[in-house]
Amino acid sequence: MAYVISIVNFKGGVGKTTIAVNLATTLAKDFDKRVLLIDFDAQMNATTHILSIADRYDELFKQGKTIHQAMERKANNREAINLDDYILKETFKNNNDLTLIPNLHLLAGATEMVEFESILNTVKKENGKTYLLLSDLLTSVHGNYDFVIIDTSPYLGHEVRNSIMASNGYIVPLIPEPFSKNGLNVLLKRIHKFTMNHPTYKNTYTKFLGVVFSHFRRNVQDENSFIHWCRDWFNGEHLLLYGIRPGGEKNIFNTMISHRPRVYRKSVSQNLPLFKTKDSSIAINEFHDLAEELLEKIK
Ligand SMILES: Nc1ncnc2c1ncn2[C@@H]1O[C@H](COP(=O)(O)OP(=O)(O)OP(=O)(O)O)[C@@H](O)[C@H]1O
Ligand SMILES: [Mg+2]
Repeated sequence: MAYVISIVNFKGGVGKTTIAVNLATTLAKDFDKRVLLIDFDAQMNATTHILSIADRYDELFKQGKTIHQAMERKANNREAINLDDYILKETFKNNNDLTLIPNLHLLAGATEMVEFESILNTVKKENGKTYLLLSDLLTSVHGNYDFVIIDTSPYLGHEVRNSIMASNGYIVPLIPEPFSKNGLNVLLKRIHKFTMNHPTYKNTYTKFLGVVFSHFRRNVQDENSFIHWCRDWFNGEHLLLYGIRPGGEKNIFNTMISHRPRVYRKSVSQNLPLFKTKDSSIAINEFHDLAEELLEKIK
């Protein structure tokens, strides 16, 4: 059975997509895991990174192979659908096939997901279980993967709720800056409240796997102070209200993803994974360490 992880934060631009894509790539490439990456954001940034949109996305859409088409079919059809039919098996494929990662697969995103609510209205008429649509879809491919990584959108909307319901755990990327304080509190509280209000959908609650600091700049004093604040905050008893056990170290990944705009920009604009991007060795090592830490955490 696949271990399903949502990458979540309601704040935009904190590194959700970057972490989803590179964590998925690292688990597949460095640790030989079978990984499915799901692009559950209508901005479809993960898809844009992995495919060269111009030459491949149109083709996929025509073939009906996107998350929108899979969900629409599932909502409208009472018979079971096999999600495997919608999954792209050739990722990071450039013209020479040089960067193909065979065990990294993609369920492509779609801008049409801005109308996700209308799909859910159909589900509502059928059985009312709107938050279970992704979870239901995943059952047909659970046995094909070791990990499913879901990139989500920056709102607590239906996508994030569906994603949380389908996941074993969730990771919160965070920029170490004061504005993140309130957001963190609200985020954990709302996810907890949501999962508590839907206990009948799952046997277990989705686990908070931890915060990953991204855009981290080691020599900026403010950022280091924020990290100290965060460690203290994650030691507090108030966390029990969110269903999280206090323990500063355990709730924050040791590995931090440092701020490297040029490397990440290049990787995205050239549709390349980090291991094919110039000057990326530090970023590669950070993602390797992050994946290793994750594997240890969920053992
Ligand atoms: N560690 C990093 N160092 C430098 N730039 C980064 C880093 N992580 C992400 N970026 C860049 O910051 C921008 C936002 O990152 P990303 O798209 O991953 O955030 P996001 O949380 O997914 O955003 P959204 O909420 O819009 O989906 C992108 O241009 C990305 O390339
Ligand atoms: Mg994103």
